[in-house]
Amino acid sequence: MELNNTSAVVTGGASGLGEATARELSARGVKVVVADLNDELGSKVAAEIGGAYAHCDVTNTEQVIAAIEAAVAMAPLWSAVNCAGIGWATRTVGKDGEYSSAHDLDLYRKVIEINLVGTFNVCRLAATAMGKNTPDVDNMRGALVNTASVAAEDGQIGQVAYSSSKGGVVGLTLPLARDLAVVGVRANCILPGLIDTPIYGTGPQSDEFKARLGAGVLFPKRLGYSSEFATLAVELLSNSYMNAESIRLDAGIRMQPK
Ligand SMILES: NC(=O)c1ccc[n+]([C@@H]2O[C@H](COP(=O)([O-])OP(=O)(O)OC[C@H]3O[C@@H](n4cnc5c(N)ncnc54)[C@H](O)[C@@H]3O)[C@@H](O)[C@H]2O)c1
Repeated sequence: MELNNTSAVVTGGASGLGEATARELSARGVKVVVADLNDELGSKVAAEIGGAYAHCDVTNTEQVIAAIEAAVAMAPLWSAVNCAGIGWATRTVGKDGEYSSAHDLDLYRKVIEINLVGTFNVCRLAATAMGKNTPDVDNMRGALVNTASVAAEDGQIGQVAYSSSKGGVVGLTLPLARDLAVVGVRANCILPGLIDTPIYGTGPQSDEFKARLGAGVLFPKRLGYSSEFATLAVELLSNSYMNAESIRLDAGIRMQPK
């Protein structure tokens, strides 16, 4: 699938995996809308890659449509990459065993709302916009890449909310691809392992933490680079025969209970 002279929406594009993907797409001749909540970082990334920034909460339909329309205004929208997401860690039952200290249900809902509902929101609206594209030789009109996590398969203690949300993202991949085949849009999913992004903080303490995490990786024994995620995301977008697939990008790690 040709990416040059098309546009893309990258949610979470202000930081980490989304930022790296926005940069990689731009290097491939794509006009990118960085769709994020972080106006300062998002505008900076967008300016550096000659794209546009859209303040966009992925759970807000109006804001998602505005981000998509900003992309369409630059060039036909052929790609959307969902990297917006939040983490959360809380055990299901509190230490004192009281009802009141059980996992906060609103926090559970919030993680599902952003990571799962938000991802689907962008998919359904981006694919709708892509449906208006003039199809290529394969009758194709675009492609989506979603970001789950290895926590979808090996969620750790305290990760019920996060793993539920990411399991949902993996689960929707096949039916989404099946729904969208008629529109000419492919859908794939990446399950990153431990990738070095601002999600782990910055500074000496976080460097120590990341070094400990890296020691648990099978091979190579280090955290992944966000560029390694970005090149895979771009391959999933540009390779016309990739569809309905969920791929672990994790150097062989299998997360332990804690
Ligand atoms: N870094 C890792 O090791 C790792 C591993 C597995 C999965 N992931 C997933 O990859 C994705 C990106 O993570 P990252 O490491 O780049 O984190 P990050 O914190 O660097 O970037 C996430 C971005 O998403 C944005 N965001 C948060 N909520 C949003 C919302 N409601 N609407 C729009 N934007 C929103 C943030 O502002 C931020 O810029 C997340 O979904 C995360 O769960 C990351």
